[in-house]
Amino acid sequence: MALGNLMYFWVVAANLLVFCGSLVNGKDSSVWAVGDPGMQRDGLRVAFEAWNFCNEVGEEAPGMGSPRAADCFDLSSENDHSLIHKVTEGDNKLGIGKPFPGLNPKALNNPDLYAAEKEIYLGSLCQVSDTPKPWQFWMVMLKNGNYDTKSGLCPENGKKVPPFKPGRFPCFGSGCMNQPVFYHMPTSLDGNGVMKGGFNGTYELDSNSDSGNSYFEVVWEKKIGSGSWVFAHKLRTSKKYPWLMLYLRADATEGYSGGYHYDTRGMLKTLPESPNFKVRLTLDIKQGGGPKSQFYLIDIGSCWKNNGAPCDGDVLTDVTRYSEMIINPETQAWCSPTSIGNCPPYHITPSNEKIHRNDTANFPYGAYHYYCSPGNAQHLEQPNSTCDPYSNPQAQELVQLLPHPIWAEYGYPTKKGDGWIGDKRTWELDLGGLASRLYFYQDPGTTPARRVWTSLDVGTEIFVSTKDEVAEWTLSDFNVILT
Ligand SMILES: *[C@@H]1O[C@H](CO)[C@@H](O)[C@H](O)[C@H]1NC(C)=O
Ligand SMILES: *[C@@H]1O[C@H](CO)[C@@H](O)[C@H](O)[C@H]1NC(C)=O
Ligand SMILES: *[C@@H]1O[C@H](CO)[C@@H](O)[C@H](O)[C@H]1NC(C)=O
Repeated sequence: MALGNLMYFWVVAANLLVFCGSLVNGKDSSVWAVGDPGMQRDGLRVAFEAWNFCNEVGEEAPGMGSPRAADCFDLSSENDHSLIHKVTEGDNKLGIGKPFPGLNPKALNNPDLYAAEKEIYLGSLCQVSDTPKPWQFWMVMLKNGNYDTKSGLCPENGKKVPPFKPGRFPCFGSGCMNQPVFYHMPTSLDGNGVMKGGFNGTYELDSNSDSGNSYFEVVWEKKIGSGSWVFAHKLRTSKKYPWLMLYLRADATEGYSGGYHYDTRGMLKTLPESPNFKVRLTLDIKQGGGPKSQFYLIDIGSCWKNNGAPCDGDVLTDVTRYSEMIINPETQAWCSPTSIGNCPPYHITPSNEKIHRNDTANFPYGAYHYYCSPGNAQHLEQPNSTCDPYSNPQAQELVQLLPHPIWAEYGYPTKKGDGWIGDKRTWELDLGGLASRLYFYQDPGTTPARRVWTSLDVGTEIFVSTKDEVAEWTLSDFNVILT
């Protein structure tokens, strides 16, 4: 008894010491879900991944290796600030046929499996020890929306299907699903203590002139010891590549991140669970990317089955769930009193009142761009709209939001134009609270899924542009705060 009490005292005293120490430093790291809270760590960890239409590789671009790369370094010491890189250009150029430590021989000549394992390998080079778990990197994700339906490359709701007639998706012909030309500018330090590096490239493999080609670029910059990294993004579509996506993601450090059916590496040392987290970020949009640019102030992704169970890699029953706040003021609500099939079955207010989508006097139609159900759901309210079955390795569900006064409670944009071009803002979003009250499909009578999020990302999806469009923005201060 006495011994027990004494031990209790020491445990409390020790905790108190730790607690005071962390308050002094202002760094009680347990309240942050990301390894690099606020993007302030001088020793940067950033990686790159490129996806084809169904989130695979398909075929590597000639001479580029597997489309996974990383830029990770530590600073040498207090006085002599040189950058000690952890990933070589040789590592970044690794591609099928080239072994690396830990590679499963089955993956050696399979571009899809090879890329997934290369990500794990780069993660091992970049990994930072931390509590409760080590973490690896921010992830730049680039996706080409072309789909060659004659290739038979993409499954339908996770099921392998034969090739079919073109027409539904953009594709200029065979090879339209290619991976990009990729260039890495390794982070370097200038005489003023400013560190800078970047990734860029194009999807046009054949071009030698720059005009009219697609382009992507992410350049990061930070002064040692002060503020946040600023990630400056550029994305341009072209005639051959009219549908492109570019995001900066905080992904899970293990397991399946949103939209991906392989083990991933990332930044979320704790997976945030609704309703107990907030997201802080600074976004400065310089060019919007045109009327079809679905700019995501934030996009969250996870995976659970229609019976509420967590995903286990079975692509036939796993379902990717996404919710996205689109801040392009030109994006219209497809959900309306006359198109209720494009709305979620109900809206839940902050006071937990359910408003059915057929309640035309009260349902906030303007707050929803589009809702679509998983293609493998069996018990849908009618009318229904099911999500595209090909653009993900498994079935998917999307809840796409627009700025609207009903989101004010969560710190979200309340009117068109909030946070858009010329309106740089630092947002503090009660994403956990909002995402706890969104509708997601589940089979009747099943236990509601735990809403644990495996990816949070910011960026744009320029959705089949009719002319070459350019988006340009910076992201900084990104943090996920557990509440
Ligand atoms: C990428 O950046 C480098 C260095 O600034 C530049 O030389 C190259 O032209 C860029 N790549 C493309 C495809 O524009
Ligand atoms: C609205 O939908 C609910 C659920 O499907 C249904 O019970 C109700 O009768 C509908 N109300 C109207 C007015 O159609
Ligand atoms: C969804 O709606 C279509 C009609 O638009 C219908 O044919 C289909 O059976 C519905 N799907 C489900 C799962 O209810």
